[in-house]
Amino acid sequence: AADVASLEEEIRALAREKDAVILAHNYQLPEVQKIADHVGDSLQLAIIGKKVPQATIVFCGVHFMAESAKVLAPEKRVLLPNLSAGCSLADSITAESLEDWKARYPEHAVVTYVNSTAEVKALSDICCTSANAASVVRSLPQKKILFTPDKNLGKWVAAKVPEKEVVVYDGCCPVHDVLRAASVNRVKAAKPEAVVIAHPECRADVVEIADEVCSTTAMLTAVERHPQAHTFIVATEHGIVYQMKKRWPDREFIVADGCIGCRMHCPYMKMIDLVMVRDALVRGKHEVQVELDVAAGARRALERMIAVPR
Ligand code: 13P
Ligand code: SF4
Repeated sequence: AADVASLEEEIRALAREKDAVILAHNYQLPEVQKIADHVGDSLQLAIIGKKVPQATIVFCGVHFMAESAKVLAPEKRVLLPNLSAGCSLADSITAESLEDWKARYPEHAVVTYVNSTAEVKALSDICCTSANAASVVRSLPQKKILFTPDKNLGKWVAAKVPEKEVVVYDGCCPVHDVLRAASVNRVKAAKPEAVVIAHPECRADVVEIADEVCSTTAMLTAVERHPQAHTFIVATEHGIVYQMKKRWPDREFIVADGCIGCRMHCPYMKMIDLVMVRDALVRGKHEVQVELDVAAGARRALERMIAVPR
C-alpha cells in the first residue's frame, strides 16, 4: 500500500511538473480512475481535454478516444500510456470498407459512432455518441442514413427515429453484444425491484427490458433519477461500478451478467496501470498523432455533431 501511495504521489507531482492533465474513461482500472483529474465518457473527456489549460493530455482509455482528444485539441500533446489499447468495435470498420459501403449507397448520409478511427470519422458526414445518436440522425436533411459501425446502437436509433431509413453496418462491441435478456432477467428475478440501466451497444432484447438506456456518464445521472431505488442492474462494462459505488456507497450495483469481470470485461480498457501512467509522463510516450488532413475531416464530423442540440 505504501508503494501505491508513493506511486500516486509521484504521478501527481510529475503531472504538475510536465503541465499534464490525466483523463480516465469510466471503464479504466479503479487505481487509474482514482488518480485522474477527470473521469468520464469518451466524448466528454475529449471536450474536457480541449478546455483545460494543460498542454499535455495523458489519456487513460483506448486509442480512438485519445485520437478524438488530439483531433479536437491539435495544439496539445496527447499521450496514450499503452498503444495496444485498441477497441474491437472501432476496428470493425476500416476506411476502405466504409468507402466500398458508401459507393453502394450514394444517396445516404453517413453517421459514425465516436467508437471509430479518425480515418473513418473523416469519411463521414457527422459523428454521434451513445448520448446523442437519435438527435444527430434526426438533425440531418437526408432521409436515408448509413449508420456505422455499431449495429446495436444503429438499430436502437432506427427505432427511435422511424421517419428515417437507417441502414446499419455489421459491427458490434463484443463486451456488450455477448449479453442476452435472459441473463439480465435471471439477475432481476433475485432483485425484482432493481432498476435496469443499459448501454445502447447492448442487443435489442436487452435494451427493450432496460429502464434507462444511456452512455456511461449518463448512467450516473440515471442513478440520480431513481432516488428511491436501492439496487441497480448495470448492463455495461463492469469498470463503471467503481464510479457508482464511490458516489453511492449505500446502494447496490450489480453487473447485468451477474459476474463482475467475467464476460462484461473489456480487456483493452484494463491495459493501463499506474506504472504505465508514470512512465507515460516521464518518457512522453506514446504520443498520438493524426495526419493533418485526416484530423481536419474528423474534426469537421465531430464539430458538426457537437453543434447538434440534444
Ligand atoms: P461511452 O462513450 O458511453 O463512455 O462508451 C464508450 C465505450 O467504449 C462503450 O463500450
Ligand atoms: Fe471498444 Fe467495447 Fe471495449 Fe468499449 S467496451 S472500448 S466499444 S471493445
